Amino acid sequence: MDITLYRLLEKLERERSLSSGEWVRLIEGRDGELARLAAGKADAVRRRIYGNRVYIRGLIEISSYCKNGCLYCGINRDNKNAVRYRLEKSDILACCVKGYELGFRTFVLQGGEDPYFTDDLVCSIVGEIKAMFPDCAVTLSLGEKSGQTYRRYFESGADRYLLRHETADEEHYKSLHPPDMSLENRKRCLFDLKKIGFQAGSGFMVGSPHQTAANLADDMLFLNELEPHMVGIGPFVHHKDTVFADEPSGSVELTLFLISCIRLMLPCALIPATPALGTLDGCGREKGICAGANVVMPNLSPPDARDKYMLYDNKLSSGGESAEGLRQLSENLNKIGYEIEISRGDFRKGMNC
Ligand code: 5AD
Repeated sequence: MDITLYRLLEKLERERSLSSGEWVRLIEGRDGELARLAAGKADAVRRRIYGNRVYIRGLIEISSYCKNGCLYCGINRDNKNAVRYRLEKSDILACCVKGYELGFRTFVLQGGEDPYFTDDLVCSIVGEIKAMFPDCAVTLSLGEKSGQTYRRYFESGADRYLLRHETADEEHYKSLHPPDMSLENRKRCLFDLKKIGFQAGSGFMVGSPHQTAANLADDMLFLNELEPHMVGIGPFVHHKDTVFADEPSGSVELTLFLISCIRLMLPCALIPATPALGTLDGCGREKGICAGANVVMPNLSPPDARDKYMLYDNKLSSGGESAEGLRQLSENLNKIGYEIEISRGDFRKGMNC
């Protein structure tokens, strides 16, 4: 064990931040033992704030249409092989009814950037969900919008918003996105969301093409600056119909290590063990929880929509990743000392957060 790395980990735990160079050293120098130490510290921090409780979110994928051309994403506008669908309001409400019965108290409406979902339509869907289920939270994940649109979403009752920054490095951002998208606008969206009052979530892919340790350091520094309520990270997984079809997948091990680091940096954050982690590793979700995550997001979309919302190859939406598999998931988590909590699972501002 390299003692300087151990000291960096302690510094992260104590000061909740590192310099860019320190992040690079920690990321590049890590080994299994350091990762285990980091996970142990992260787990202790999470238990102090959230106990052994794991929050659940029902993920409803409302549209596979997208006007964006993100190079890594299977539903990008240029993929002619992508099967497109969008859910009707009644379908979405039916998912919520089923989800509520299963125990979900947060519904996440996620979709490509689909102009069919006008502000009026989104607001009326959110309003209806909140009227039918006043004890539930609604999370939206519908991409980049104007501050005014975000404000309307918030006023219609939406509680949370997820928008990963994907990468905080300008050049890297350009290598993953078409010229009509910008990191600057992404960041503007995230700061708008926080200002409006959303519980806001950001995050990035681990092992996306061209990514360096310095890029990951920038991601950590950006998260430190933004102080989001939620942070979702998952390994990059290639999709066969994208320009990155032959790129290797991101590392599960590095993703788990970074989850632990994020928990130490932002102790109160809601951190999901993401579907991409579960897709690359059969025990990915459980490992994510042990590394410091405290949220899982089983799929609640109608079954025929699930295989069409293909962001990456082999995306799991059945078994343990499905809402129907909740009982199994719950048993698996019990075995490793965690319990699923039936509640909205809001961000909790513990002491020292
Ligand atoms: N691999 C892993 N994650 C992906 N996402 C999109 N495409 C991929 C991919 N090929 C993630 C992005 C996006 C989230 C909804 O899914 O980070 O923000």
